[in-house]
Amino acid sequence: MPFRSFRLSIRFILPLAIALGMFAYAIVPLVDNLTLRWFVKDLDTRSQLLASALHEPLLDYIPEQDRKKIEQLFNRSVQDERLYAVAFCDPAGTLLYKTVTYPPTLGCRMLQNRNGRPQSLVQLPQGSLHVAQNTLESDTTRLGTLILVHDMSFIERRSADTRKYVISLFALLAVVISLITVFVAHLSWRGWISAVKGILRGDILPKGQSTAPPEVRPLVGDLKTLLHEMNIERRVQSDSPQLWTPDKLRSLLHEQLAGDEVLVVSNREPYIHVRTPQGADVRRPASGLVTAVEPVMRACSGTWIAHGSGSADRDTVDRNDRVPVPPARPSYTLRRVWLSREEEQGYYYGFANEGLWPLCHIAHVRPVFRSTDWEQYVAVNQRFADAVIAEARTDDPVVLVQDYHFALLPRMVSEVLPRATIITFWHIPWPNPESFGICPWREEILEGLLGSTILGFHTPFHCKNFIETVDRYLETRIEHEASTISYGGKLTQVEYYPISIAWPDDDDVDANTINVCRTEMRNALGVPPNHLLAIGVDRLDYTKGIIERFQAVERLLELHPELIGRFTMVQIAAPSRSSLDEYQNFEARVRALVQRINKRFSSAGYEPILFKAEHHDTDQVIRYYRAADVCTVTSLHDGMNLVAKEFIAARKDERGVLILSQFTGAARELHEALIVNPYHVEQSAEALYRALTMPDGEQRERMRGMRTRVKDNNVYRWAGHMLLDASRLRQRERIMTKIHSHSRNKSLRRVV
Ligand code: F6P
Repeated sequence: MPFRSFRLSIRFILPLAIALGMFAYAIVPLVDNLTLRWFVKDLDTRSQLLASALHEPLLDYIPEQDRKKIEQLFNRSVQDERLYAVAFCDPAGTLLYKTVTYPPTLGCRMLQNRNGRPQSLVQLPQGSLHVAQNTLESDTTRLGTLILVHDMSFIERRSADTRKYVISLFALLAVVISLITVFVAHLSWRGWISAVKGILRGDILPKGQSTAPPEVRPLVGDLKTLLHEMNIERRVQSDSPQLWTPDKLRSLLHEQLAGDEVLVVSNREPYIHVRTPQGADVRRPASGLVTAVEPVMRACSGTWIAHGSGSADRDTVDRNDRVPVPPARPSYTLRRVWLSREEEQGYYYGFANEGLWPLCHIAHVRPVFRSTDWEQYVAVNQRFADAVIAEARTDDPVVLVQDYHFALLPRMVSEVLPRATIITFWHIPWPNPESFGICPWREEILEGLLGSTILGFHTPFHCKNFIETVDRYLETRIEHEASTISYGGKLTQVEYYPISIAWPDDDDVDANTINVCRTEMRNALGVPPNHLLAIGVDRLDYTKGIIERFQAVERLLELHPELIGRFTMVQIAAPSRSSLDEYQNFEARVRALVQRINKRFSSAGYEPILFKAEHHDTDQVIRYYRAADVCTVTSLHDGMNLVAKEFIAARKDERGVLILSQFTGAARELHEALIVNPYHVEQSAEALYRALTMPDGEQRERMRGMRTRVKDNNVYRWAGHMLLDASRLRQRERIMTKIHSHSRNKSLRRVV
């Protein structure tokens, strides 16, 4: 801004100064002439007065021809510094008396100009002189002419001074007028720009104004039309009755964003190569993030940058650390970043999972913040940012940044690639400002995230918490209606995009297949065909409410002992972050609880809880979903929870009941689930009972509603909405830039 003002000033001041300079140059001779005339008039009057003063004594001395007295009188008179000489001529034109200073060349001739008029100014070698001739008469006799000669050099000096003042005055005027002009132009330019921005934001008129400024009015119509067209286009895209599909997402990316290039950054990689005695095996991690983003990447291609954490990861990459995936049918590139043990410890286990994770989840585990972890977090974010920059083939890629592991990366990337569209998605909840405030590096985290073009959360509540946190800790401009934050010249759209899953393409699955799956699972578990099964699928994490779930099972069996031996809770628990004390303690507590409950209710090979703390692949998990009567999601706090949606997607038979914690993002969409407060053990036990005894008709009705919703609000829609918003922002940014340069030229032209 200051630079632009400076350039504007130069562009205004120079021409104005030149114009005023030329004007001053033309006006100085006029001023000279005028002042000269004033001074000559002044000397005429002065000569008149002097002549009058000399008149009386001369009337006495001339007739007596008293030379001595006359010359004394004359010499006294010329003591006045401006009166240069005095002389007296008789009527015949003979010079009778004079001071020594009287120029001989003047003599007694009557001075006349070319037109024969008496001339008062003469130019002699000694300089300019003013000559005044006064006739001296006694009562009736003309005695002669008294000549008074004034030095004009002081007038020249004054005239030079006046010229100097006039020129300085004009120079000063030039500067003052230019500055006022620039100031006024600047104000009207800013008003103009803010009015246009207001229209683009949809305010139509800037706040507090009843009408748009007159200069903007001709544009309002055009801009409104443009915005309207953009909105219609967007609505058509997003609300199309057509299902969001990979194809639709792909074409959106290419048509709306002209984006040939999508880069994803996440900590967790979508495919992990692990060493086994049989060679390298590929695993899919238990990660909601991977479940959601992987289908998007399959649709869009591009490069996914992630931490190479598998034991055989290095063996499977090329010399650029890249590997094409999915292994069976590659459609995008996985670029692995290697971390040292210290880096992983500080950045992933330390800052991300002992600091930010408990900070953002209300699960009553105290966050731990260490400076050494923070240093690693900064360094690893920089390493991944460098990888993004290195992988980008263009200067405006679409970068999808995933989760709390990379809060600093958006700003790091945008500083090097300012034209990049950076969409950051925060997969976990965002706490209120007070809770977030305990993070010692809260400002840095917020600044880093505000390097994003779009910052996405699962729910409006998390967006609100984020905006309030920014408002509390940073100096920014927040537009609440538009949900944008402007910080350091960068505009970030904060929006909620409920994440989802790819709806399965399972034409071959029918109710019969599901029944077969149900029977096979019960056989495998060694229970009778009508045995009631509940399933829980989670990472072994203290936020998932696994303890509360088992307490609910215990209470269920207490309240409904008829279910003992007829009901089993199968808990799949994928090991997670197990090198952290908190997770080890949690696992120990879970195992102890399972043991206690199983001991309490077991009989002849029956145990009410089957705790399977090991990795399960996707197909195995789907088989459990299909075989179960109930799926339990009892997180104490969860951004979304995709297990709930995966269960629904797996139930093509429209059977099965979902028990869902009210503290998940999913509870805002899946109203037909049995919503519980997991801290209320009785309530959860009741919900379990209700689910296990729910009539088929009710199950179908509930499941049908949820299936329609999850199918429509699938992950392509999630990504599509973010990309549409990004494309809208990119378009808006382009229009702003155009208006900006257009308005500047226009206001300059108007002022000049
Ligand atoms: O659900 C939140 C989340 O961070 C996901 O985004 C992530 O993939 C998942 O937890 C698993 O965590 P981790 O990658 O640490 O095993």
